[in-house]
Amino acid sequence: MLNSRAEAFAPATVANLGVGFDILGLAIAGSGDTIIAEWADEPGVHIAGIEGDGGKLPLDPKRNVASIAAAALLKQLEVAQGVKLYLKKGLPLSSGLGSSAASAVAAVVAVNALLGEPLTRPELLPACLEGEAAVSGYHADNVAPCLFGGITLTNGITADRIRSLPVPRGLYLAFITPHIEVPTSTARAVLPVHVPLKAMVQQTGAVAELIDALYRGDIPTMARAMESDNVIEPARQHLMPYMADMRAIAKQQGAYGLVISGAGPTLCAVCDDEAVARRVAQALREGYAARGMGSYSRYGGVLAEGSRAVVFS
Ligand code: HSE
Repeated sequence: MLNSRAEAFAPATVANLGVGFDILGLAIAGSGDTIIAEWADEPGVHIAGIEGDGGKLPLDPKRNVASIAAAALLKQLEVAQGVKLYLKKGLPLSSGLGSSAASAVAAVVAVNALLGEPLTRPELLPACLEGEAAVSGYHADNVAPCLFGGITLTNGITADRIRSLPVPRGLYLAFITPHIEVPTSTARAVLPVHVPLKAMVQQTGAVAELIDALYRGDIPTMARAMESDNVIEPARQHLMPYMADMRAIAKQQGAYGLVISGAGPTLCAVCDDEAVARRVAQALREGYAARGMGSYSRYGGVLAEGSRAVVFS
């Protein structure tokens, strides 16, 4: 059954979890993007309005990840009728919180809801990836947790290669986003093309240790394994202001570890208590302020469910 209007929320996500470059990610409770979808008189997908982006995102539907993803869904379903989207950005751009994935997923979930939910969650993945790919290439480590929720392993870009991993009880994360933008393309351009065999062995060992820690609900070991990234973090660290200082501050306040969230510059501290995460987030903000930098802090648990829609018939 077609609906007249649908609104979808899609959460912020942390890609990589330190060592799991392009394969691990999790959904964060609290922050995200919202998209309202309605039918349009003209065919195609139209961006009817964007708020919360400071005027930075393109209204051109061929360049906006939300409309690109929605158009991919309409094409997949062979829907000729046009759709218009209103985008409410809740996430900062180029910040390492999966902003583009959230817009793409919210658009696809909203349009699927507008159409009366013809597709299942896994069937929505290809259209979401089309949107995300427009800005950061075909990798599903943000899109998968955004769409499905929880902590995900994405060993490929098809739904059958995505696995839901256990979320340790009591896991809370603190985030600090300094007021600078680091485009994903910039953060990927600094990465090594070749990795020495020794580094590969250490990295795969750390990923295995991290996954084992998730299954055992062992947050200290989880954090240590996340921090054991000896390939991506060393190459990107110079793009993250005062990262070593922020790691020290987070640990002084009770966090077990701190890693780059996605491609940065947001940093993510791993905690086992909500009050500790709140304290860590505040200390990190004060840490940047003391170094003359503005920042935005947040904290929260892992969001078990992914993007959700409400419809108006
Ligand atoms: N895995 C990606 C990266 C996430 O770190 O570049 C950002 O899109």
